[in-house]
Amino acid sequence: MTKAPSQAYNSLVSRDKKVLCQTYGRYPLAIERAVGSRMFDLDGKEYVDLLAGIAVVNLGHSHPELLEVMSSQAKDLIHISNLFYQPKQVELAEKLVATCDCDRVFFCNSGAEANEAAIKLARRFMRTVRYKDACEIITLSGSFHGRTLATLTATGQGGRIKEGFDPLPEGFVTVPFGDIEAMRAAIGPRTAAVLIEMVQGEGGVLPLPEAYVRQVQDLCQEANCLFMVDEIQTGLCRTGKFWAHQHFGLTPDVFTTAKGLANGLPMGAMLVKEHVARGFAPGSHATTFGGGGVLSAVASKVVDIMLRDDLAGRARDLGNLALDAFRKIQADLPGKIKTVRGLGLMIGIELSGPGEAVHAELRERGFICNLAHGKVLRLLPPLVIAEDDLLAFAAALGDILKQDK
Ligand SMILES: Cc1ncc(COP(=O)(O)O)c(C=O)c1O
Repeated sequence: MTKAPSQAYNSLVSRDKKVLCQTYGRYPLAIERAVGSRMFDLDGKEYVDLLAGIAVVNLGHSHPELLEVMSSQAKDLIHISNLFYQPKQVELAEKLVATCDCDRVFFCNSGAEANEAAIKLARRFMRTVRYKDACEIITLSGSFHGRTLATLTATGQGGRIKEGFDPLPEGFVTVPFGDIEAMRAAIGPRTAAVLIEMVQGEGGVLPLPEAYVRQVQDLCQEANCLFMVDEIQTGLCRTGKFWAHQHFGLTPDVFTTAKGLANGLPMGAMLVKEHVARGFAPGSHATTFGGGGVLSAVASKVVDIMLRDDLAGRARDLGNLALDAFRKIQADLPGKIKTVRGLGLMIGIELSGPGEAVHAELRERGFICNLAHGKVLRLLPPLVIAEDDLLAFAAALGDILKQDK
């Protein structure tokens, strides 16, 4: 039976509702602390974290090596501004470009800000390097690119995300997901760039077909517009490669990342090829906190650990194990699960009916995941999660679905 909320929880919720802008639909849960792949609520109840702060805490909570870097770097240098050369920032950029085909990095504070930088760069590159009046950015239906005015306009979803924010910026076109003819028809002389995810995360964990993404890159090359990939959620080993576009041998002109970069400290980055980087000049784009000392030192350690411990390989292997376990439940309990899909440790289990009761029961049993679009259980566990935790989640899910939730 569900336990009544404690007085401590009720009191926190009423204080939250009084002083915070109510922009989030929160789960009925208040988390006090977290370590590794475990979270603990106000009353000390333990949960297995299969969400990792929405693909952020990839190395788990309170990682000891990151805590060490954080505190020692804080003693040396926290922030000085981008008016100065900073060793930790350069070191991180060198490590990031070594993981991919891009040559230069711009650091910022969030995913939306990284996409905002990519959109601005694409337009300015066309104007100042190519001398073309090409400003349009093409994105896909179902995509999610952020909540700033430009990135929410780029986002291919309706509903609350855009409602009430008119007038939205001009120069954005959305085409249907997976329809290559629609993409071909949309790309024209005014196209600056196409921006796509490899797996639509907020869209409900929808991997894009390999043939389609290759064709999109080819179309961009033929049309001489930029091919840009949003790796904010898929990047940094999450899908079983360091970057998700590497599954398909793609070489984007620009890609963006954030979430897992500093394992919970706010940091985003845009990575670009050398010739495209010429679209920015000193003074054309900036951000106060981008690439600060502590952020860069922590992110640098994140990259080291990911490479040292082959977390991409771990995400691939654990992802396959989890997908197999969920597909077995799907086969054993016909009519309960519509589809199981994903790449690495980015997994969506689309239930055949509404998912709220199943999601709540999982939480009750101590498992934290996300419910997207009311029916997709979305799993983005820390990449260091134990195999047994994933199997325990699968067993709990099978048990709940058997009981006709
Ligand atoms: C693919 C993608 N792009 C952009 C964003 C926006 O990132 P942020 O919330 O850090 O601005 C997100 C966040 O969920 C995302 O998943």
